[in-house]
Amino acid sequence: MAVERTLSIIKPDATTRNLTGKINAKFEEAGLRIVAQKRMKLTKEQAGVFYAVHKERPFYDELCGFMASAPVVVQVLEGEDAIARNRDVMGATNPAEAAEGTIRAEFAQSVGENSVHGSDAPETAKNEIAFFFSELEIVG
Ligand code: CMP
Repeated sequence: MAVERTLSIIKPDATTRNLTGKINAKFEEAGLRIVAQKRMKLTKEQAGVFYAVHKERPFYDELCGFMASAPVVVQVLEGEDAIARNRDVMGATNPAEAAEGTIRAEFAQSVGENSVHGSDAPETAKNEIAFFFSELEIVG
């Protein structure tokens, strides 16, 4: 296993319910270190660029509107096997299918308002981290 970095977003449904600390505790309990973090309010256009891979999907407009509806907390998580580990901690995209104890099982409200995003592969992680952070802002 290698030490990796992954991009995490705590989504508007979670920031508005004041769940940032509870979600961060889940990452830290799983051995992930928060090596960069900032709270931002995305525009719908910025959300659209970030999620461009989904632009042909029927939920794209709803997804971008939701991501711009309230603040998000963007983060870089670091640790052994961080990309897969974070996906384990998040649980399945649809909270109805998420394993007990995962962030989405405990906090997500629906498949759209599912509290967190995490990169799905090393190349995606690299690009998603660079979308939000400069190297100077990441302190391991
Ligand atoms: P995320 O991991 O951020 O990646 C893409 C997002 O699209 C996903 O989490 C969901 O929040 C969202 N999404 C996926 N399927 C649907 C759907 N059927 N309706 C609304 N949003 C969806």
